[in-house]
Amino acid sequence: MDSKVEEIKAILKKYDQEHLLNQYEKLDENHKKRLLEEIQNIDFELITNLYKSTKKEEKNNKDEITPIEYLDKYKLNDKYKYYESIGKKAIKEGKLVAVTMAGGQGTRLGHNGPKGTYDIGLDSHKSLFELLADRLKEDGKKYDVTIPWFIMTSKENNNATIAFFEKHKYFGFQKDKNIFFFTQGELPMIDTEGKILIGEDGFIKLAADGHGGIYESLVKSGMTKKMKEMGAEWVFIGGVDNCLVKMVDPVLMGIAIDKKVTVACKSVVKDNPHEKVGVFCKRNGKPNVIEYTEITEEMAEATDKDGELLYGESHILCNLFSVDAIERMGANPLPYHVAYKKAKYIDKNGNLVVPDSPNAYKFEAFLFDAFGTVDEMAILRVKREEEFAPVKNADSAGVDCPKTARELYKKFHKID
Ligand code: UTP
Repeated sequence: MDSKVEEIKAILKKYDQEHLLNQYEKLDENHKKRLLEEIQNIDFELITNLYKSTKKEEKNNKDEITPIEYLDKYKLNDKYKYYESIGKKAIKEGKLVAVTMAGGQGTRLGHNGPKGTYDIGLDSHKSLFELLADRLKEDGKKYDVTIPWFIMTSKENNNATIAFFEKHKYFGFQKDKNIFFFTQGELPMIDTEGKILIGEDGFIKLAADGHGGIYESLVKSGMTKKMKEMGAEWVFIGGVDNCLVKMVDPVLMGIAIDKKVTVACKSVVKDNPHEKVGVFCKRNGKPNVIEYTEITEEMAEATDKDGELLYGESHILCNLFSVDAIERMGANPLPYHVAYKKAKYIDKNGNLVVPDSPNAYKFEAFLFDAFGTVDEMAILRVKREEEFAPVKNADSAGVDCPKTARELYKKFHKID
């Protein structure tokens, strides 16, 4: 043990992180053991580079941004039925599985518990998880199949998520038969000096590594292997916080199959040119998403000959991938983006610090950064009122909140 501690101390010295063992002698044996394990799992080179990246301008402004083509689901004419029949056949053959990303912290909503357990205030008091489960079961029935459901949790919310599903008998799904849970990766948070933080519990302060961690997590956890064993070829990946998410869409699948693309995404047209959403584009000739902070006013307002916004297709986290594409994406790390957040921590004297303004960096990969690894993908514009009712903020924000989502849900499902 002592030699192990000495070894770890040397590593910490090399990376200027010796403070991590400041309280070590005061800890009990179990705590000591786990802390050492956590330290051994840290990729210090990565953390050093991530810290350096916080000092740099993140975006490469030399990128060439151009519009990307899309199809409008309601302007497909005869092709609608054609794509739909291709997709229906594949779904009936069991080629589709669904993944829900539920690893986020949901800080804006401020709910105490995993976001999926949130009750948006319908008379049924169903949680987001249950609303998604209902729809998935119902849509599967149309094609005489049970669509296997994979839920991505974080280390932080995994136990609470599984306990919730257990309590609700997995909403009719069968654990490890047609519902599976896997956990996403985490990275340490660091302060403005690049020092890794110790959290309130006396362990390394870790935070989920963003929804872009999904590809690697699906592969590492053995989920893509499982999907293939089940005969699945396509994976719909959506967020937990869109209570109108349509995970089973034969038209989207038919398009992907017919056009021989490995990624097919849904979009909704921007509410107005300056809506704060990321939109699909081509970046240096490859599919990508450009964030509202990156887009110029001129680009945001530019229209084509039909008066449609050139950069108007919002990315709504409703994306279909081939299992093979996920495996390829999971093999190559995505870049991390930095977020400056408030994080409680234990200082070098062993005191808890509760900041009232941001004090720490968190690193996240974005799912759409992997789009650039494919040459072509399909984008299908769908109707916002049919497929997009996000629950991001508390009601006080007035937008993308439980109240707006509830209204959209009721309208779509014709509930009074
Ligand atoms: P958001 O980017 O809206 O983040 O996630 P969030 O964590 O839910 O909320 P805030 O930003 O803290 O308020 C969009 C979707 O991606 C999932 C979320 O659970 C949600 O379904 N997500 C996000 C993950 O699964 N893991 C992450 O690390 C981040």
